[in-house]
Parts: sequence; C-alpha cells; structure tokens
Amino acid sequence: MRAGLYLPREIKGKMKPIGVFDSGVGGLTVVKELISQLPGEDIVYFGDTARVPYGIKSRETVIRFSIENILLLLKEDVKLICVACNTVSSVALPVIKNHFRVPIVGVLTPAVREAVYATQNKRIGVIGTPSTIKSRSYEIQIRELDPAIKVFTMATPLFVPFVEEGWLMGKVVLEVARTYLRPLKDARVDTLILGCTHYPLLRPVIQEVLGKQVNLIDSAKQVGMEVKKILSAEGLLNKNGKKGKAKFYVSDNPEWFRNLANRFLGRSVKDVSRVSNV
Ligand code: DGL
Repeated sequence: MRAGLYLPREIKGKMKPIGVFDSGVGGLTVVKELISQLPGEDIVYFGDTARVPYGIKSRETVIRFSIENILLLLKEDVKLICVACNTVSSVALPVIKNHFRVPIVGVLTPAVREAVYATQNKRIGVIGTPSTIKSRSYEIQIRELDPAIKVFTMATPLFVPFVEEGWLMGKVVLEVARTYLRPLKDARVDTLILGCTHYPLLRPVIQEVLGKQVNLIDSAKQVGMEVKKILSAEGLLNKNGKKGKAKFYVSDNPEWFRNLANRFLGRSVKDVSRVSNV
C-alpha cells in the first residue's frame, strides 16, 4: 500500500516528489541545488542517457524526447517538473509547457532574470549548446525584459565532453575556453549566463578567462529558488521535517551515470535504475 493513501488531498499533494529530467547526467547540478535549498523534498530524476546529447539534435527531436520524458515522470505522480536541461528549456519548453497540468519549470527564465538584474553595462553574454544558441531563446527573453540590453552568444560544445571526462582545469581546457570566450570578452560583457547543465563545473576556468569582474550566472542556483517559490505559492512545500529521498532513473548505462554522478552532485548515488521512456 502506498504511504499517505488515506491522508487529506492537500497533504498528499505536498508529499509528492519533484520530478527532474535532463538529457543525461548534467541535470544533477540542478538536483544538487534542489537538495540544498529544499532538503525536505523527495526527488525523482530521469536522465535520458540512451539519447544524450540533445544539444546537437533538431528541434522536432528534442520536443519529442521531452514529451516522452515528461510522461515518464508523470507516472511517478510528481507535483512539479523541473527541466534541468538548457537545450530542452530553450527549444521544447515554450511549445509543450501549456499542454500539461503540472507546473513545469525550465532553467531559462530564472537565469535571465538574474542576469538582467546583475548587468551594469547592459552587455550580457550567453554560452550554451549549439541547439540552445541557435534557438535564440536567451536573447529573446532578455530583450523582453529589457530591450536596451545587448546580448552576445556563443555555442561552446566542447565544454560538455570536457566536463564528462573530468577535464575541469589545465592547459587544454584553458586554451579552448580562451578561444570560445574571446569574442565575448572583446564585446565587454559584464555578465555571462552559463546556459548548460555542465558549465557550472567549469566556473573557475571561465572566471579566469573573463576576469573576476564578470558576473557568472549559474542557472542551477536560480532554478532552485524558482522551484521553491512556485511550491510555496501553490501550497505544495513538504514541511514534514524529514530529509527527502532521491531516486534516479536512466534510459541506458546506469553504471556510467553512477560513475559520473559524484562529479555533478558532490556525492555518490546508489539507487539508479534503468527504465524505458518510449
Ligand atoms: N543537458 C544539456 C544542456 O543543458 C547538455 C548536454 C546535451 O547536449 O544533451 O543543454
């Protein structure tokens, strides 16, 4: 029998888990923030490791994968879905968001708000996967908030494999970062959005290249705050005082996920099961 079956509906709603999905392991940067900001919440995470990377796929494909992932999380009876993937948030979320009753939070809006607030010289840089940059989603949202802001974007696809290989420092990474970021440095951005799940792990290198005067906006942190705000506004915060549990599902290769999880989450994960999302 499931726990809470005879509890009043409002209490049951609060006890439901938060669903999080990403193309793979990178979304654990968002889970780390959720655990730190909302320690009482249960979390169900799905990483689509069979079909990663999303960042080089077509819009139609990313939309189809995203719908399948949402349906999978809905079977877990989640109270809110957090889309940890910047590519999905950029490309698919605007199209699919209003087709589901459960609140769906992407990583874009919270980061955009923070960047618009942080910039002094009204010059914001955005880095992300090729699909994220091609969608122009960040530019559009920033300009909606402040049309006077100039936005400079750059696809930085090599950063994802670097992080997954554990190359977070060193000459090669620094040289690649210098090459990618030179146009943004020349454009004198004072704020840079790290528009991909993996990039917070490269923060020290990026900061070194751009200089410490540049604000780096990490969408994971902002999205944690946004989820908290929505759950609180909907009366769905779990306040039972117990530490929440996290369950992890992947569509392939749980071993690979388990090995990388530590880097993204800051702790090891044991409970990783393989499921099919299609
Ligand atoms: N999770 C993706 C993102 O944040 C990066 C990895 C991928 O390309 O799937 O855009």
